[in-house]
Amino acid sequence: MTAPAQETFPPPPELARSAAEAGEHAERAAADRLGFWGDRARELLTWETGFEEVLDWSAAPFARWYTGGRLNACVNAVDRHVAAGLGDRVAFHWVGEPGDTRTITYSQLHEQVQRAAGALEALGVQPGDRVAIYLPMVSEAIVAMLACARVGAPHSVVFSGFSAEALRTRIEDAGARVVITADGAFRRGAAAPLKPAVDAALAAGAPSVEHVLVVRRTEGEVAWTEGRDVWWHDALEAAPATHEAQAFDAEHPLFILYTSGTTGKPKGILHTTGGYLTQAAHTHRTVFDLHPETDVYWCGADVGWVTGHTYIVYGPLLNAATSVVYEGTPNTPHEGRWWEIVQQYGVSILYTAPTTVRTFMKWGEQVPARYDLSSLRLLGSVGEPINPEAWRWYRRNIGGDRTPVVDTWWQTETGGIMISPLPGVTTLKPGSAQTPLPGISAEVVDDEGAVLAADGAETTGYLVLTEPWPGMLRGIWGDEQRYRDTYWSRFPGRYFAGDGARRDADGDIWLLGRVDDVMNVSGHRISTTEVESALVSHPAVAEAAVVGAADETTGQGIVAFVILRGGAGEGGGAGDVADLPQALRQHVATQISPIAKPRSVLVVDELPKTRSGKIMRRLLRDVAEDRAVGDVTTLADATVMGRISAGLRAAPGED
Ligand code: PRX
Repeated sequence: MTAPAQETFPPPPELARSAAEAGEHAERAAADRLGFWGDRARELLTWETGFEEVLDWSAAPFARWYTGGRLNACVNAVDRHVAAGLGDRVAFHWVGEPGDTRTITYSQLHEQVQRAAGALEALGVQPGDRVAIYLPMVSEAIVAMLACARVGAPHSVVFSGFSAEALRTRIEDAGARVVITADGAFRRGAAAPLKPAVDAALAAGAPSVEHVLVVRRTEGEVAWTEGRDVWWHDALEAAPATHEAQAFDAEHPLFILYTSGTTGKPKGILHTTGGYLTQAAHTHRTVFDLHPETDVYWCGADVGWVTGHTYIVYGPLLNAATSVVYEGTPNTPHEGRWWEIVQQYGVSILYTAPTTVRTFMKWGEQVPARYDLSSLRLLGSVGEPINPEAWRWYRRNIGGDRTPVVDTWWQTETGGIMISPLPGVTTLKPGSAQTPLPGISAEVVDDEGAVLAADGAETTGYLVLTEPWPGMLRGIWGDEQRYRDTYWSRFPGRYFAGDGARRDADGDIWLLGRVDDVMNVSGHRISTTEVESALVSHPAVAEAAVVGAADETTGQGIVAFVILRGGAGEGGGAGDVADLPQALRQHVATQISPIAKPRSVLVVDELPKTRSGKIMRRLLRDVAEDRAVGDVTTLADATVMGRISAGLRAAPGED
């Protein structure tokens, strides 16, 4: 079959600066990769002590970048811009969901991070101590992260949509000394309490926590534990107005961020300072063609995810950019909220996820058409493969048929963007992340690890990264072996990303989604095992199997197959079987987060297993996606799929 002619979009000529820079970078990186990264670290960051060596890979797969260098992340993000005379530049136009706004200049941010750093130290936080941050998208979340960085305390931001139970396990794993939270959050037009989740998490465990700093946002009633709980505003007011920041080693831990793996236990991805910041600043400038003097940049992510860390907080601030941050949901109070904000602040660069674009598509092009979006000049996409239709819709309806759309591939583990078009030079192909950035080495390999050469033929395999990069994770918190096993054992000497990839005849890379038991729901990584463990922790469930089924809006939707315990639903105490799917969905929301709620829960009598007992999720996916069931020859009982399908037809059990 011959593929239809590929539609392409050449780079706009006005991106000349980016084009020139990209050309220099490509040349420099090709000639001397480490020299290039050394130059970038010096050009983009201010070091108190210069580094001696760009990369020490002698303890591979544990990298040390910029050895001997010393710097302070917060000073680089804030203080030095104020010292350079940029104090009056707006760092953030913050927009609250109820309509309140805050304009925060670099000077004001400077004042806040100094006070917050002093407040943390007053609570006994020392360099190396972990601080958990469980906050909605209020500006204090950014200040809290920077204050942690300033005092050398690695932050562990836990997405505020996670449950008390998920929060507890993350606090315990990191051994956090302080938790920073809020009384509540505004979401979907209403105030929802947040602190009770922290109280519940700490009541259930997490003995390492000494203090809880509480930001006042919704002004709802909160329970208070004297001696432990401290109001954020009181602590900042009591702190000195200035704080002298000390420099830390380039390899000093900057943050831990938990992400789902293939087991039930989330992985604490560890990032350190010099390398991460270099890649954050570099990619934010080059991939988005950033002109900090004139651009208004908006990344629609949440600080609870890595995109928020790198492209709301560190990247933009290191580059002295002006950003918009929006607290709420895109359809509160109406479906044009984002476009109203773009129009109001003259947003020029917008970075979001394909699932959000598809949601906008569903609401219709008449919504953005009501607003003046002519300030936009560049659009970005991240988190999952963007289907070409969504890419084209985004460019046409949001980008006015003029803006480049950069599809950026990266991961929590990579710290920053790895594969992406460069808007000044790349001729874009809708749906493809295209090429590794200068200084980044990626290949597509087959099962045996042989490189599938880009020799004019199309090939499909696994994505690997073949050389260390500055923003790479430095390990999994507290689990060296898991780090080696997960990323470095499948193809020894190379980093296995867990993604399938296709290389087209031009050598461009198309990401194909996860090849492991990790689902991607609305751009969020959720492990099948984690949801299965949550389901079997319900008294009515004996066994569960979970698959990610294709979903028009969210990329994948979670479909759960459950076998009930004997007696469940028959007056056995577990409630009515008809209500069970709903109860189980709720149970998963409580155990993990509403984002992990299965789209459907199907009650079955059996699950398809191989003779060795491994659940064949591929077959369940066929059922979940309403397809003819594939090859069943390796099943222990070849008739089981027929019985599952027949049972579901008789009693859909879908909720
Ligand atoms: O499967 C890939 C997908 O998201 C995974 C990383 O998820 P997370 O660590 O949560 O980080 C998301 C934000 C960087 C990857 O393994 N992914 C991310 N970006 C893309 C993507 N898949 C295809 N195209 C992308 N642009």
